[in-house]
Amino acid sequence: MTKNRTSLHGQWSSRWAFILAATGSAVGLGNIWKFPYITGENGGGAFVLIYLICIACIGIPIMMAEILIGRRGRRSPINTMRVLSREGHHHPAWQYLGWIGVLAGFLILSYYSVIAGWALAYLFRAVGGVFNGVGAERAGEIFAALIEDPERLLAWHTIFVVMTMIVVARGVQGGLERAVRFLMPSLFLLLALLVGYAMSTGSFSEGIRFLFTPDFSRLTPAAILIAMGHAFFTLSLGMGAIMVYGSYLPDNASVTHTSVVIAAADTLVALLAGMAIFPIVFAHGLEPGAGPGLIFQTLPIAFGNMPGGWLFGTLFFILLVFAAWTSAISLIEPAVAWLVENRGMTRVMAAVWAGVVTWLTGLGTVFSFNLWADEKLFGMTFFDLLDFATANVILPLGGLFIALFAGWTLSRGTTRGELKLGETGYRIWYILVRYVAPLAVSAIFLNVIGILRFG
Ligand code: TRP
Repeated sequence: MTKNRTSLHGQWSSRWAFILAATGSAVGLGNIWKFPYITGENGGGAFVLIYLICIACIGIPIMMAEILIGRRGRRSPINTMRVLSREGHHHPAWQYLGWIGVLAGFLILSYYSVIAGWALAYLFRAVGGVFNGVGAERAGEIFAALIEDPERLLAWHTIFVVMTMIVVARGVQGGLERAVRFLMPSLFLLLALLVGYAMSTGSFSEGIRFLFTPDFSRLTPAAILIAMGHAFFTLSLGMGAIMVYGSYLPDNASVTHTSVVIAAADTLVALLAGMAIFPIVFAHGLEPGAGPGLIFQTLPIAFGNMPGGWLFGTLFFILLVFAAWTSAISLIEPAVAWLVENRGMTRVMAAVWAGVVTWLTGLGTVFSFNLWADEKLFGMTFFDLLDFATANVILPLGGLFIALFAGWTLSRGTTRGELKLGETGYRIWYILVRYVAPLAVSAIFLNVIGILRFG
């Protein structure tokens, strides 16, 4: 069946196009918004170290597994899993992995688009000169005024969902390929500039120490789980996004090389964001564990007080919106590809349906910050719960099964043929994906479950 060597949805024009699109998927709010705030909440250095280890030992091998599975199947993740299991006479239940991925994509996109809406709102504030000369207190008020107003959040959420669905409706290669080509390098440059500003705050070394000096006494089992979950989230792993992008990858491209490049670029962006934000946090006596508002309460101070801040602030929020946009597209692509393959829909219809479901689910997150802020389950709001369940439970579980499928179910001939690595390289990957990644994910899960049950 896999004699059909290209996907019905088309193919990337080159290996570079794939790297750009996959980096566009990986680099997003996870790097710039989420990484700093969860690092702040979980005590800094030790958390960062665990996150980096997870990227190297779990993230990269699983990314390679996702890409090779996708390229082998050349279909939406649901159908890829079905076809590959049928071909190899494996259990048909493997296709549920694709279904779980589609569900996870919807759930993540529903809140991702609300936060991307914050970035849009901030772009307008930056353009309007609202950040001019602001201090910590004023920055906090600006943020509170936004999230406490459900109608504003709803409006921005709606705009972002529509933006996402427009690109999805037009297909992966059109605008997407071209846009990422210059957006990614610009994002690097602006982050480097922000790090430059952070150096001038007088608290740069404090920020760096917080990020890179591990203090293991602050590392809880929950923090380890969050660090691992974030490694999946930030690399877009565990739900088929990278798998579906892999299904559009030309046969002659190296899976290993592309995975390493994507993971390195993604990690660099996150670390730069952390290096830009924590010095500002300390210089202004802010709380590193301030939560999801962290970058929205710190970056305006930088833009409001640096020379050329209006221009850089505007550019920064434009890039943040684009980074979120290219990620959002990949969250919904597995579902859209499936709707087109199995329901015979056009891409436009598939995008409309996906958009409606995402928008509705997103209402829960919109209200989590205002009307429903006090409605809590396990001490978490709807948004917290959704974020926790997807990033820290569903994605690692999805990743675990992807690793098991690649390491235990697919034949060595198949994976070896797709990866085209030397003997040593292949062995390293094989050990990581067959033993290290599944054991690490299971151990981290069991550790947290043990704590929950036995205190
Ligand atoms: N990786 C993106 C970020 O860091 C978010 C994202 C896009 C994602 N596609 C995904 C997360 C698939 C998990 C799964 O912002």
